[in-house]
Amino acid sequence: MIDKQEPLSIALPKGRLFEQVQEHFSERGIKFNFEKRKLIAVDQSNSYKFYLVKNSDLPIYVHHGIAGLGICGDDVIYESEREFFRLLDFDFGGTRLSLAGPTDAPWPSDSDNIAIATSYTTMVRDHFHSKGMPVDIIKLKGSVELAPALGLSQYIVDLVETGSTLKANGLEVKEDLFNVKVRMVSNKAYYKLNYHRISKLLNILKGA
Ligand code: PRP
Repeated sequence: MIDKQEPLSIALPKGRLFEQVQEHFSERGIKFNFEKRKLIAVDQSNSYKFYLVKNSDLPIYVHHGIAGLGICGDDVIYESEREFFRLLDFDFGGTRLSLAGPTDAPWPSDSDNIAIATSYTTMVRDHFHSKGMPVDIIKLKGSVELAPALGLSQYIVDLVETGSTLKANGLEVKEDLFNVKVRMVSNKAYYKLNYHRISKLLNILKGA
């Protein structure tokens, strides 16, 4: 008798990326839906099990092997400070991590004591550290664009997609720091154990 294999486990991010991921899979024949309020779904062929998790928690699930695979942006991978195999990048969901400030305030690139509010403290710290530029980093979990308006910091570093949130809050990009791609990552041990099935999945996802 042949043992029935467990479906491959894949963590997916809640939020604006989710629908694009679901559509990408569906167009390639992997169809799944999360029933109302449920956070686990299995595809119609019972080959893939999906977990719907908070974006910033996704690396934790993959690191611990609870989900063998995960889909998220470079920003989330970088901030987690964990090591994964990066298997595939997708052509949707790309953004930029940018430094922004008020339209009437030039970026003072040669002065110190600049406060920057951001959710991406590791990326921002490493970026300015590599430039030898001291900055005060203030960690916020969201609505970062409010910080300059309320006087918490003059500058912010945040994801910019269309730029409309910046514009609506009187801010503009002063400098793009990183291009952020959406990737499929894998727990390293899980990849080695499930190499053939993961390769098959990658071929499906690469297909037009
Ligand atoms: C993200 C990001 C910016 C906004 C950028 O926020 O943090 O605020 O999108 O998009 P735009 O350039 O198209 O306006 P999100 O809506 O994910 O929520 P958050 O503020 O909680 O991070």
